[in-house]
Amino acid sequence: MNLPNMIEAKKRDKNANIENYVYEEIRIDDSLKGKKYYVRTYGCQMNEHDGERIKGILSTQGLIETDDLNDASLVILNTCAIRENAQTRVFGFLGLIKKLKETKDILLGICGCMAQEESVVNEIRSKYKYVDFVFGTHNLDGMVGVINECISTGKQNVEVYSVLGSVCEGIPENRDSKYSAWVDIILGCDKFCTYCIVPYTRGTQRSRRWEDIIKEVNKLKELGYKEVTLLGQNVNAYGKDLYDDYNLANLLRDVSNTGIDRIRFVTSHPWDFTDEMINVISECDNVMPYVHLPIQSGSDRILKLMGRRYTREEYVNLYNKIRNTIKGVSITTDIIVGFPGETEEDFQCTLDVVNECKFDGAFTFVFSPRENTPASLLEDSTPIEVKSERLHILNDVVNKYSLEANQKCVGEIHKCLVLGVSEKDSSKYMGYTENMKLVNITSDIDIIGNIVEVKIDDAKSFSLNGTII
Ligand code: 5AD
Ligand code: SF4
Repeated sequence: MNLPNMIEAKKRDKNANIENYVYEEIRIDDSLKGKKYYVRTYGCQMNEHDGERIKGILSTQGLIETDDLNDASLVILNTCAIRENAQTRVFGFLGLIKKLKETKDILLGICGCMAQEESVVNEIRSKYKYVDFVFGTHNLDGMVGVINECISTGKQNVEVYSVLGSVCEGIPENRDSKYSAWVDIILGCDKFCTYCIVPYTRGTQRSRRWEDIIKEVNKLKELGYKEVTLLGQNVNAYGKDLYDDYNLANLLRDVSNTGIDRIRFVTSHPWDFTDEMINVISECDNVMPYVHLPIQSGSDRILKLMGRRYTREEYVNLYNKIRNTIKGVSITTDIIVGFPGETEEDFQCTLDVVNECKFDGAFTFVFSPRENTPASLLEDSTPIEVKSERLHILNDVVNKYSLEANQKCVGEIHKCLVLGVSEKDSSKYMGYTENMKLVNITSDIDIIGNIVEVKIDDAKSFSLNGTII
């Protein structure tokens, strides 16, 4: 048994050699061959991509994916720890599986970011004994070994490592889309924003070698993929740990030269965003004009407490530079309300900056104290009702600007990559503009997987409606 340790997870050894290795296949226990598996993923795009790898490993071992929980012999919950409510949903779902386990044989596993939390694993060991195995973000490639051990011993098996992390290449993947693919470029995070659990759950910042990334993108292009999204908790820090003179700007140029139709990248941190990167995005036609640039708060006092390393003025300057340099760019953000000690005045600063920037969209959250993070130890006397009210007020302002930004598109023609059938209306298709606006598209012919020109007919806060031309 290897248990997570939050103190160890925080340590950073600057001289440590990050291990780079290639995935080694292990045969899964014969009792699972040909059986069905169900994987449910919570959280960010990186976790979604990990979910694709979990499915890839199981499928290459002869298991069959099902989206019907009742059909599954193996269930894996790939979890997120970013806020308390993400965890509550997982624990709720566990209750459902417990009932199902009473009626049939199911092997149940938990992985992902919650598995890296000491308190969660202690709870699983004491109260959720029906969970059969747990593995963490650092040993996803060892999943089959963890499952096999659990089967052979018949005991709950917990294998979680609180280490710096490594880079494992070549893990099989069952990608969810045939047209748009996630590509990890940098794992972990060293920023240690005071509210955030990610540096603990995902380990130290470590870049993949650019050669491996380009190889992957070329392969995806050969397979017919139209779009890649380069992923990292902080993509702008790409290369810092590996190279003296190769960064995200260089990588974007090299990925652009592969000739793949569309390149995106998330998430950006204002601290590492250079002019060179802005120029590359604006110069390369296949690097999409969309930037997700979390601001978190508009109050300098709160930004400092959050450890964000920029002031509101610095953020706004960067924001304006991006807006003014990249043609047709859309910019979205993340905002937290109710950080410990946030006053009405601080909150007003956040509203002010939203009014100033007029973001194309924003993901807004109420602060959630996370285990072992510095912010979780701060005095926090603001009642939850006040925080909820602030979120409500903020959302109204944010939505007003999203709608305004979308309304500007009406009458314009936008190139959209069509990813599937619209979730809201099955007679329509859904796709994304170059600047990442969701469009429900009317078309008489099947356009899935194509980049098509669409005339925008009308706009809502979160989507556009359009007709193929
Ligand atoms: N509480 C609330 N929101 C959080 N985020 C990260 N940690 C927390 C937390 N403890 C938000 C940030 C981040 C986004 C992914 O989630 O806004 O950018
Ligand atoms: Fe959730 Fe963060 Fe982990 Fe992604 S990295 S799954 S957002 S805790």
